[in-house]
Amino acid sequence: MTETRKKITLPYLFDKAARGEPITWLTCYDYPTAYLQEQAGIEMILVGDSLGMTMLGYDSTLPVTMDDMIRHAQAVRRGAPTAFVVGDMPYMTYQPSVESAVRNAGRFMAEAGCDAIKLEGGVAMADRIRAIVDAGIPAIGHLGLTPQSVAALGGFRVQGKSAAMAKKIMDDAKALEQAGAFMILLEMVPDRLCKLITERAENCLIMSLGSGPHAHGQLLIYHDMFGLYPKFKPKMAKVYGNAGQVILDGLKAYREEVIGRQFPQPENWFGMSDDEYAELQKLLGNSPVAETVEEGKKKKGKRKEDKK
Ligand code: KIV
Repeated sequence: MTETRKKITLPYLFDKAARGEPITWLTCYDYPTAYLQEQAGIEMILVGDSLGMTMLGYDSTLPVTMDDMIRHAQAVRRGAPTAFVVGDMPYMTYQPSVESAVRNAGRFMAEAGCDAIKLEGGVAMADRIRAIVDAGIPAIGHLGLTPQSVAALGGFRVQGKSAAMAKKIMDDAKALEQAGAFMILLEMVPDRLCKLITERAENCLIMSLGSGPHAHGQLLIYHDMFGLYPKFKPKMAKVYGNAGQVILDGLKAYREEVIGRQFPQPENWFGMSDDEYAELQKLLGNSPVAETVEEGKKKKGKRKEDKK
C-alpha cells in the first residue's frame, strides 16, 4: 500500500536510475485500475493510445482522438494522484506541425493533469520534442516498434535487428535526447541494442518494452499482463494472472444463477417495513389485509421452495 507515497517527480526518477534501481511503468486507462496501480506502488503510468485497441475495440491505435485520450487520462489521474502519469499523443495530433504538437501536449497537462507526454518517432520528430520541452512540458520519445507507423514498419515485428537499422535507431535516440527528451521508450528492439542506447544516454532515461533488461526500467501493457485483451498476447508480455478468465467465469455463473433464481438473495435486496407497506397499499386503494394474506401465501411458497 502506498497511501503515504509522495508525488513521483522527474528528480525521483533520475535518482532511482542513478542508484541502478529499475523504474516500474504500466499502461492504464481507467480509474479503478489506476487506483490499484497506485496502491501497488507502480511509479509511472502510461495512458497509451493503445486504449483504442484495449478499451475501444478498434483494430489499431489510429482512430484514437485527443478527446478520447483526455477523458481517460483524467480518470487515471483521479485514481493515481501520486503516480507519474504520461499522456500518449495520438495519431496526427503532433505529426502535422510543431504547433499542433505543442497545443495538444499542453492539453494533456492543463486538462488531465499529466506529468509528461510521449510521442512516436525519431529524427523527424525531434523539432516537436524540442518545442514541447521549450513550452515547459516534459517529453518522452518512443522508438523501435512504433504502432502508429505499423503499416510503414510492415507489421508488429522486432525493429533494429540489422546493423544498419540498429544504427538508425541509435541516431534517432541521440536526436531525441539532444532535443530535450528526458526519457525514451524502446519497444521491441534487440536487448543488445537497448543496452548500447542505455549506456550511451547521458541525460535521458531509457525504458524497455520487450527490449530486454538493460534499461533504466520496464513497461508492460496492463491488458496483456492479465489476459484482458482477447485478440492476441504479444510474446514480450508476461501474464501475471488470468483476470479475463476469472471475469468470464463470474459472468457465466451470474447468468446461471439468474436463470436458476439463485440470484438475488435477501442480502442483495432492500426490504420495506410491514407498516409502510400496509400504508402504501392503503394509498393505492388496496385492502391491506388482503395484501398481507397474499404476501403470506407467497412467503409460504418460498419457504417450501427453500426446503426442497
Ligand atoms: O499506446 C501505448 O500503450 C504505447 C505502448 C505500446 C508503448 O505506446
